[in-house]
Amino acid sequence: MKPFAYKDDVLTPSLAHAIDTVLANHNGDATQLVGILLEVQETVEHHYIPKDVAYYVAEQLKLKPTQVYDVVTFYDALHSTPRAKYTLQVCSSAPCHVNGSETLCETLQRLLNLEVGEVTYDGRFSIETIPCFGACDMAPAVRCNGMVFGNLNSEERILDMLRQLD
Ligand code: FES
Repeated sequence: MKPFAYKDDVLTPSLAHAIDTVLANHNGDATQLVGILLEVQETVEHHYIPKDVAYYVAEQLKLKPTQVYDVVTFYDALHSTPRAKYTLQVCSSAPCHVNGSETLCETLQRLLNLEVGEVTYDGRFSIETIPCFGACDMAPAVRCNGMVFGNLNSEERILDMLRQLD
């Protein structure tokens, strides 16, 4: 699968404004750096912390860029490289597993012509398997950009979810 192209020069005035809002909501408190970066990451297309964004956050919080990088590289939930616009997180914990999460994952891979961990050529979709995210009552489930899709036990329902993300 061909990796999608991206530019690392993403700090537009509107993104800087969105980051300023996140910083203001945290009172510019550098001790809240992890929470700040998680929120900033959600405002960046492809959900990662680009280099120029890391520098901007560091500057605003009066930190060294390396302090921001250390946090980005330490926490699994933070990413220094672009992710898909829609990362489909398939729950692989027991309740979802017994309700067909494996079939769900295989169906997603077939429909998107994609392996787990890859990104589609247009940067739109990727598939990840993750532990329980609390939607066990509607297993098997997928989480994507804060939304949860449950009872994905047929190809029709899976296609329906993908259409909603288009
Ligand atoms: Fe799948 Fe909890 S076991 S969401």
